[in-house]
Amino acid sequence: MKPAALLALLFAALSFSASVPPAFAQTATTTATTPATTHPVYESTRASPDGIGKRYMGREIAQVMGWQGAAWLEREEREREERTDLLLPELALKPGMVVADIGAGTGYIARRMALQVGSGGVVYAVDVQPEMVAMLRSMASKAGLAQIKPLLGAPDDVRLPEASVDLAIMVDVYHELEFPREVLASLVRALKPGGRVVFVEYRAEDPRVPIKAVHKMSEAQVRREAGASGLVWERTAGGLPWQHVVILRKP
Ligand SMILES: C[S@@+](CC[C@H](N)C(=O)[O-])C[C@H]1O[C@@H](n2cnc3c(N)ncnc32)[C@H](O)[C@@H]1O
Repeated sequence: MKPAALLALLFAALSFSASVPPAFAQTATTTATTPATTHPVYESTRASPDGIGKRYMGREIAQVMGWQGAAWLEREEREREERTDLLLPELALKPGMVVADIGAGTGYIARRMALQVGSGGVVYAVDVQPEMVAMLRSMASKAGLAQIKPLLGAPDDVRLPEASVDLAIMVDVYHELEFPREVLASLVRALKPGGRVVFVEYRAEDPRVPIKAVHKMSEAQVRREAGASGLVWERTAGGLPWQHVVILRKP
């Protein structure tokens, strides 16, 4: 069954509305495991139309893409727009690796990584919305990919075992983390020494990328924020149509 058809069935099972709203129109309701008062590194600001009125290192955090827009993640034109066939070789995945897809959504990227790490590997597919986790579980099971382990994360904690992960990726996710500093700290804890974190973000430097400004990030901003969490920049791959791929390593 095609992913779009499977999603339609899932929408019915989860009592979805028949009409899928535009991407980013819905805000998820999430609860942090620690109170906001423990996060003085953030500034409050007047919210822009797609932002949440909270800044980290000068950048306004975007609204979370709600599960109601899940079909957009499986859209047919995605392969042409994002070229995961070019992204995957940048990750240098090998059979047996333990990897994590943080903010996995429906599992579009997790399913592709699962084929590369094979049945002897593990793909932790973490999302903060239970509805997304339900969809990704169903689609992974339909695809026969038992190496995908769907997990519900907290807004400020990926909740992965310590020192267990070779590589973690966030595709179009980091800019909308409500607690980027805490999530990165939890991710660094979950990485093995020498493990990598890969940020895939729409390029803020390129006005031709047809995505709203608050949902884009510059390479410099990614490196600044990731560096503040102790990650060391390794390289940036720029061969995708709309996104850059910024790869950092845990020392
Ligand atoms: C734009 S979607 C991208 C989904 C997926 N990475 C893809 O490319 O198909 C962003 C996802 O990040 C998830 N998300 C937002 N904050 C999160 C957090 N703190 N931890 C885990 N997932 C989060 C959202 O629930 C949403 O599913």
